[in-house]
Amino acid sequence: MLLDSEILAKLMGRQKNHSLEQAFYTDPGVYDLDLRQIFYREWLFAIPACEIPKPGNFVTQQVGAYSVVIVRGTDGVVRAFHNACRHRGSVVCKAKKGTSPKLVCPYHQWTYELDGSLLWARDMGSDFDPKEHSLRSVHCRELEGLIYICLADDAPNFETFADTAGAYLAPHDLGNAKVAFESSIIENGNWKLVWENNRECYHCAGNHPSLCRTYPEDPSVTGISAEGVSPQVQSHWDRNEAAGIPARFQLDKGGQFRVARMPLLDGAISYTMDGKLAVSKSLGRIPFADAGPLVQFHYPTTWNHFLPDHSIVFRVTPISPTETEVTTKWLVHKDAKEGVDYDLQRLTEVWIATNDEDRIVVEDNQKGINSPVYTPGPYSPTHEDGVIQFVDWYASHLTRCLTGRNLIAAE
Ligand code: FES
Ligand SMILES: [Fe+2]
Repeated sequence: MLLDSEILAKLMGRQKNHSLEQAFYTDPGVYDLDLRQIFYREWLFAIPACEIPKPGNFVTQQVGAYSVVIVRGTDGVVRAFHNACRHRGSVVCKAKKGTSPKLVCPYHQWTYELDGSLLWARDMGSDFDPKEHSLRSVHCRELEGLIYICLADDAPNFETFADTAGAYLAPHDLGNAKVAFESSIIENGNWKLVWENNRECYHCAGNHPSLCRTYPEDPSVTGISAEGVSPQVQSHWDRNEAAGIPARFQLDKGGQFRVARMPLLDGAISYTMDGKLAVSKSLGRIPFADAGPLVQFHYPTTWNHFLPDHSIVFRVTPISPTETEVTTKWLVHKDAKEGVDYDLQRLTEVWIATNDEDRIVVEDNQKGINSPVYTPGPYSPTHEDGVIQFVDWYASHLTRCLTGRNLIAAE
């Protein structure tokens, strides 16, 4: 298990534009550092807000050692709390999701309001002050129907992301969505391999027969700059923006997020096997059926495809140095009826297949990296500049954390 100082030395000595050394994909010390410096301090995508539409609806989410409960209050506001009782620390909400008028600890039934305040605790003596025993808050923000949380005491800036991505997201009207289907798979690979695979389509032609019916291999889709895009992509952006739909590529200065609205292949309008609509009752106010997906990523937890007829949100959760959970949710208009406005298999089959194909290549990648003969190899400058961008973001973020004043010390 590497020490922070050893990891820093490896970061400083890494070969530019090459995959990382083996330890970054296997070592428990690196995994622990990734949790402490990235997952415990950055904004993380949690859920679409439509998943908890009513007061008392809650979901729980595990991030490393932390359990978090996200709940909609009686005032309609979504809040997040550490899912740990202020009595002797028991988990309060055991279910993955549910509905409850109060949050009641299963151990001794301390009872919390949906805003986290302690309502009731039996026989705690006259000195006991319930006000000092509210559930501990977790930072929580709603952005156009998407809930983000942050475990840090002092959350980093959220506004830059909100200001940029908010305008792109608004026409998708995710506040009026419902989850039509969700899947969670465990990929036996380090979370960074999941991301590296996501940030390139060099592998698409050889691995994604269903997705390649509609999704362009064009490197500008996964790429890192608006320069060099084809005239077709440029005119796609111009046409959308002339209609008031933000479309052009924007990459965060710090490299943490990117938004762009990309055309699909040959007039395809949705991620279906025939490229035609998946949902007849549209989610959102996009004026063109062929506006293509708004592709958005936000490190370290989410990439998304927002289409004119439906949206798909993905969440990446590290489980161990070599296991990662990928959760996918298909969002449709809340009034869309299954079997009438959409067929569930037609809606989900392309990305269910694609996720499984991605799982296989990530697991093969991890197995190969585990071998003592593995050495970092070069990324394609044409097809894998998105991967270079991700790895550079990761390495520079960690280097800054390990050398700057914001260092969170190892235990
Ligand atoms: S630990 Fe929750 S009521 Fe005792
Ligand atoms: Fe893929």
